[in-house]
Amino acid sequence: MKKNSEKKAGNAGKGGRPGRAPAGSPFPPVVALDVGTTKIACLIGELDGQGKLDRISGIGNAPAQGMHKGVVVDIENASESIRASVAAAAGAAGAPVDSVFAGVAGAHVVSLNRRVSLINPNPDGRVTKSERQALLKKLKQVEMPPDLKLIHALPRQYILDGQDGIKRPVGMWAKRIEMDGHLVFGAISSIQNLVAAVERAGLAVADIVLEPLASSRACLKEHELQSGVMLVDIGGGTTDVVIFTAGRLVHSAVLPVGGNHITKDISVALKVPLDAAEAIKLKHGHAQSHLVEDIEMAKFRVAVPGATQERTVTFSKKFLARVIESRVTEIFSLVRKQARESGYLSSIAAGIVITGGSSQLEGICGLAEQALSYPSRTGLPSNAAAIIDIPSNPVYATAVGLILYGSERIFKRGPSRPPEVSTRPLGLWEEVLAKVKGWFGQESKT
Ligand SMILES: Nc1ncnc2c1ncn2[C@@H]1O[C@H](COP(=O)(O)OP(=O)(O)OP(=O)(O)O)[C@@H](O)[C@H]1O
Ligand SMILES: [Mg+2]
Repeated sequence: MKKNSEKKAGNAGKGGRPGRAPAGSPFPPVVALDVGTTKIACLIGELDGQGKLDRISGIGNAPAQGMHKGVVVDIENASESIRASVAAAAGAAGAPVDSVFAGVAGAHVVSLNRRVSLINPNPDGRVTKSERQALLKKLKQVEMPPDLKLIHALPRQYILDGQDGIKRPVGMWAKRIEMDGHLVFGAISSIQNLVAAVERAGLAVADIVLEPLASSRACLKEHELQSGVMLVDIGGGTTDVVIFTAGRLVHSAVLPVGGNHITKDISVALKVPLDAAEAIKLKHGHAQSHLVEDIEMAKFRVAVPGATQERTVTFSKKFLARVIESRVTEIFSLVRKQARESGYLSSIAAGIVITGGSSQLEGICGLAEQALSYPSRTGLPSNAAAIIDIPSNPVYATAVGLILYGSERIFKRGPSRPPEVSTRPLGLWEEVLAKVKGWFGQESKT
């Protein structure tokens, strides 16, 4: 448990031992913290006596300060926002918060696919664990810039004497053994800055989880994971993409573009301030201009700095939709490009699931189908549907995924044990991804 002299974010609660179990349950509450570019969302969940997530006792939401494109750029400001969000949730729950399951994303997360091979040295021609280990070692031997750290090395499949699609090669016979793998890298500094912002808010980090994996946990169905699916989380500053086939994570990417860029485009096109552009987007926005009537006009009142009177902006809704469509089309073409380069664009039989705040833009699924030639649906965080007080809004996809993940972790840890706190921020990625692998049957880096 972290000792911190700073005022605690969760102290808006009604007191009591930090991290205590809710009345009647031996399990402590689970706290999810989604540190996004535009908002910091905090959910507090309570587990029942059997260790199952029972209810959400607190929800906090605060505008994000000190964040840019998914990463912390001002520790002090980010920590203030974290404190505000957690305090709101803790106040509603009536209990203080000590440690959180935090999400992490940002363009610093990069991944690549690689094939490595070796000739089987065993005289009997049988593949053993040591060839598998040797391939994994080879997979990791890739030169990357020094500020990037390898955070995950995932075997996706093995190819034995040209026969692909093999998941477990040990015990089989082959002369030539190949492995297709997925490597994920991240900037150590970005993780450290996130942990520092959380700690400055008087909280400890129980665990860190890749945000698109958390969103997947909340939104994707088992049959989609098995058939092949791409989840696209379009937030404010980033668009996170993950692809699963046969239940495994095979591709991940974070693109530094999101809903904020749409808002900026509207601001420039309509010559209005950003806050007005944001409100216009939410009220009148549409991502498919051909579905908007030519003659539809809209009016919006905009404050004039230094003047008491507002001015009225009149614009064509079709024009607005064209502005939005052009930016969203660009986002989808970036998604398509890197998904195609991953080699998995043709493996997503279950289609595309779009989540994150920007997935609420009218017409966005239709545009995705047009741009990516796959059926698409909105990803609501419905995998926790039994918990009726979990917000069914794509803005909360990451937070709900974090709370599902966190509650499983707390359950596995068993009742009445103090929250696990990482004391090794530099090695967090390894720890985190080794833990996350369990969700989707991945193999870890080591
Ligand atoms: N109804 C809506 N129509 C269009 N866009 C919306 C709507 N509601 C929210 N958004 C947009 O969603 C974005 C915020 O989404 P979200 O909360 O998922 O982002 P975030 O988690 O803060 O950021 P990121 O994940 O990129 O770091 C904003 O750009 C906002 O304008
Ligand atoms: Mg987000």
